[in-house]
Amino acid sequence: MSITTIVGGQWGDEGKGKIIDHLAESASVIARYSGGNNAGHTIENEHGKFALHLVPCGISWPNTKNIIGSGTVIDPNVLIKEIEIINKSKLPGTIYISEKAHIIMPYHVILDELEEKFRGKNAVGTTGRGIGPAYSDKISRSGIRMVELLSPDSMIEKTLKILKIKNEIIQKIYDGEKINEKEIINTIHIWAKNLSSYISNTEEIINKSINNKENIILEGAQGALLDIDHGTYPYVTSSNSIAGGSLTGLGIGSKDISNVYGVFKAFTTRVGEGPFPTEIFGKDADNIRKIAGEFGATTGRPRRIGWFDAVAAKYSAQINGLDSIILTKLDILDNWDEIKICISYELNGKKLSNFPTDEKILNKVNPIYENIEGWEESTFNLDSFEKINENAKKFLNRLEEILELPINVISTGPKRESTIIRQKL
Ligand code: GDP
Ligand code: IMO
Ligand code: MG
Repeated sequence: MSITTIVGGQWGDEGKGKIIDHLAESASVIARYSGGNNAGHTIENEHGKFALHLVPCGISWPNTKNIIGSGTVIDPNVLIKEIEIINKSKLPGTIYISEKAHIIMPYHVILDELEEKFRGKNAVGTTGRGIGPAYSDKISRSGIRMVELLSPDSMIEKTLKILKIKNEIIQKIYDGEKINEKEIINTIHIWAKNLSSYISNTEEIINKSINNKENIILEGAQGALLDIDHGTYPYVTSSNSIAGGSLTGLGIGSKDISNVYGVFKAFTTRVGEGPFPTEIFGKDADNIRKIAGEFGATTGRPRRIGWFDAVAAKYSAQINGLDSIILTKLDILDNWDEIKICISYELNGKKLSNFPTDEKILNKVNPIYENIEGWEESTFNLDSFEKINENAKKFLNRLEEILELPINVISTGPKRESTIIRQKL
């Protein structure tokens, strides 16, 4: 039995989906603990290719319980569509939605867009999915939770009261367009009809599985550097994406966690605004973006590209309490004669080996690189460590040395089977 947290180690899109789809073969519960449909988790297996936004990535395995936990925020319109695709594609897992998860209401989506516009040149570059406004309402105790869909009439009464205030804000502060009351009433009825049967006490389900000593995967969304407390604030998402978020986001105890694995790309990407010390531009960035298909699984935006940042990765390992590293997209570095790893930062002639909190400093630091000889040989789809070129092995060993953590899993392609398991998890 093991309870394993799989957390994004960088700024999201590290390949968490692909890895969880692989590891879920031996799990009975896969539970998402934070974020909403800002996430896009791509899986590719015998059923096809899917970009999952809310449903956990164990859904392709039979006899799995896939929990959307209390720490998430859910846009019911998106979830209904996702469930439709899952049912049509006959993905065999079962879905459970926490009663306590907050609902992303239509006014949250509108306010996300209006607030971003208002921020002007300081915009965060959000996914525009209403994430920030929904979490704000949760914290200020004016949110609406999934459990309320079980009694639609009282939910409608509550919503109409809140809507009055939201419409005032939309119209009078942001000069936006009012949300129609009738439309929102109809929408709530549709949500209730489609989702009620999935809404459950998910804390009970997961804690029962813990007591039964089953294998459980806690699915992170986003990445540690997008965490609301520990990320590159204010260029972050609005939830605790770090491993610690799994406890509050699922209602489980810390004593139950067996392992925390951080998923990292062999390079770095970031979508949206905010500091990115190892960012590269021009032809090199375009090449990686093209080969790696670095376009958002949710918004389609081109992802910003950079070299592996070991300063940020070490910080990430610390705030997540990582036991080991899962390295993805090794194959993307196949064609380089030289590969860079950022080992420290420099600012005004001084070496910084810690990840700075102040956004102004992080924006100014110069990355100090160590150059590693490339391998210029395909690692694509390899499934055993022995088959990897010696220089690629040297790159992996050097990363392990710098990060002082083992790399237990290596991913060499988007498909489930393009995975090297060095040590059984
Ligand atoms: P997530 O949000 O962390 O689940 O990651 P995304 O799904 O947003 O982005 C990762 C992208 O890389 C997806 O298109 C995956 O299919 C793809 N991918 C994952 N692992 C690998 C890998 O090892 N090699 C390659 N070439 N692609 C990968
Ligand atoms: P997965 O789970 C990459 C980024 C957005 C923006 C910031 C805030 O697929 O790794 P939000 O809409 O959350 O208020 O946007 O966070 N962001 C992600 N970037 N992957 C994600 O999820 C992300 N979820 C949010 O681009 O910069
Ligand atoms: Mg993603």
